[in-house]
Amino acid sequence: MFAVYAAEPSPDDPLAALTVGERPDPTAPDGWVAVTVKAASLNMHDLWTLRGVGIKAEQFPMILGCDGAGVLADGSEVVLHSVVGDPSWSGDETLDPKRTLLTEKHQGAFADTVVVPARNALPKPAGLSFAEAACMGTAWLTAYRMLFVKSGLRPGQTMLVQGSSGGVSTALIELGKAAGLRVWVTGRTEEKRALAAELGAHQTFESGARLPERVDGAFETVGKATWAHSMRALKPGGVIVVSGSTSGPDPSADLQRLFFLQLRVVGSTMGTREELGDLLNFCEVAGIRPRIGAELPMEKAEDGFAQMLAGETAGKIVFTR
Ligand SMILES: NC(=O)c1ccc[n+]([C@@H]2O[C@H](COP(=O)([O-])OP(=O)(O)OC[C@H]3O[C@@H](n4cnc5c(N)ncnc54)[C@H](OP(=O)(O)O)[C@@H]3O)[C@@H](O)[C@H]2O)c1
Repeated sequence: MFAVYAAEPSPDDPLAALTVGERPDPTAPDGWVAVTVKAASLNMHDLWTLRGVGIKAEQFPMILGCDGAGVLADGSEVVLHSVVGDPSWSGDETLDPKRTLLTEKHQGAFADTVVVPARNALPKPAGLSFAEAACMGTAWLTAYRMLFVKSGLRPGQTMLVQGSSGGVSTALIELGKAAGLRVWVTGRTEEKRALAAELGAHQTFESGARLPERVDGAFETVGKATWAHSMRALKPGGVIVVSGSTSGPDPSADLQRLFFLQLRVVGSTMGTREELGDLLNFCEVAGIRPRIGAELPMEKAEDGFAQMLAGETAGKIVFTR
């Protein structure tokens, strides 16, 4: 079948390992289903996979794509939940030490067909297109858990989102605005800040800019480049929720500020199946849908990867079949 895959780990030149070609048809084990892919979205995770981060060398070649939407054999339309837990695990599957994401151990969704455990295929809301639904399972689910499960923030409080145009950032802006938080956003260019404003940000700022007042929570996926700003931005008792470190994982900890102002730093990863179901409902109830910055046929996946690598995002990048 047609597939977009990582041939081998390529730490310094991820695009060199990106291959658009053919892979064997998958077979669904007992309890799994085959999904005919209609759309799948690109995440930074796919660039990490090409670099060989978070995946064992023996797992290559690996079909990329940890987000997708498609159709089951009986015609029902589904959204993929990418977190594959161990069958013996009960409770929050993001805490299962044996859990993997699609593309870590199991093949991903940039292909004609992807196989997943039956519970990982959720009904697609009729109001979302396949391209929109394909944004929900990773970036949007991560943002949902950061904001509604991990942060403890309430409507009326102020949140700072680091980054304007990325998949997780744009989701945080839309979700925060819809939930009644005051949404402040940093962005690296005027164009990106304009996008954040269009998506509902109440105020936008250049990266690292002094803010008019301190915020209740900061939302981090950038890491080293913005961490000190996020720490300085918090009110006493404020929270940083972090789910990524694109610019580097080792920022200064600023421990004195952390304990003296009684700040909280909370890690967050993906979300549960139940949270994905709640996210899909929330989008319907609040009338929001993901911003797609680029929609390309899957054959042109390399163009989308190059855009993300260059930081040229304007919302989610989606590949369609
Ligand atoms: N833990 C999880 O479950 C999980 C899930 C999803 C994503 N992630 C992680 O979250 C990160 C973002 O993923 P994504 O798919 O949203 O990527 P993306 O679409 O490429 O977005 C990248 C974002 O990072 C910002 N950024 C990058 N470098 C920056 C720098 N040097 N200074 C300031 N801002 C910078 C960009 O800001 P501008 O808009 O200003 O350019 C943009 O908003 C990745 O590290 C990914 O691995 C983790």
